[in-house]
Amino acid sequence: MQVIRSPIALRSWVKRVKKRGETVGFVPTMGALHEGHLSLVRAARRECDKVVVSIFVNPLQFGPKEDFNRYPKPFSDDKILLQKEKADLLFFPSVRTMVPDVFLTDVTVGCLTDYLCGPFRPGHFEGVATVCAKLFNLVVPDAVYFGQKDYQQTRVVAQMLKDLDFPIRMKVVPTVREKNGLAMSSRNRYLKGSERESALLLYRALSEGKAAIQKGERNPSRVLSRMKAVLGGPKVKVQYLSVADPSTLAPLSRIKGSVLLAGAAYVGKTRLIDNLLVRI
Ligand code: PAJ
Repeated sequence: MQVIRSPIALRSWVKRVKKRGETVGFVPTMGALHEGHLSLVRAARRECDKVVVSIFVNPLQFGPKEDFNRYPKPFSDDKILLQKEKADLLFFPSVRTMVPDVFLTDVTVGCLTDYLCGPFRPGHFEGVATVCAKLFNLVVPDAVYFGQKDYQQTRVVAQMLKDLDFPIRMKVVPTVREKNGLAMSSRNRYLKGSERESALLLYRALSEGKAAIQKGERNPSRVLSRMKAVLGGPKVKVQYLSVADPSTLAPLSRIKGSVLLAGAAYVGKTRLIDNLLVRI
């Protein structure tokens, strides 16, 4: 696996690959890789001739009080994991390369960012969309791979691809979980001792909501109450819970077709998100 830091070297690598008529699958990440990330790499490996992974902790998507400075950066471990998965290229740009001192463009995707995490993380999805647009223009992939774990992100990026006519296919890969159900996340590394068990309650709450819908509950308020009851204790601070339209992400007033159950919560200082799609 080649490690490339400069956009010029990346462009010439991609040019060579495309000249041979090979397809490129791309998995953007912020590193601290786990099985969730690796499932995206495996999907790309199955479907494309060449697999490019990027590791870039993108300052544009972190708020001033968020964990940009303490975000885990186990680069050598990440490299070994990607080598094992037979990724072809790791793009590992510096902050200066991606966000030089004068950087004035912002990609904003409307409406989808009004819900769920959007109001609690102002500027976050603009940062994500901007860095993704930039990475896509550098890598020029045929397909990009994203995790359902960050459901709102998949909707924002898909809409950007559509609105701006990026000739890129997007694949959403199911959330990879620990045996007990906890969604894998780079931020799980922050959880100490009993916090891991408390973190599980978010998934339990979403599962409770799903079970209620599957048993025939069609009133979103009652589904929300069921979920809130699971998260009632002192160890988890709920930021939001939503019974939403999977396409617009707006809260539903009545459950008819597919439903997105999504939530964010703090366990200690660690912010966790999770979601379940319920098809009825
Ligand atoms: P990061 O949090 O590193 O996640 C990279 C990709 O891995 C995302 O598509 C995310 O949804 C996926 N992922 C994370 N945990 C997962 C899990 N448990 N199961 C399946 N997929 C999972 O998301 C970002 O980075 C950034 O916002 C990025 C897109 C790289 C832009 O900076």
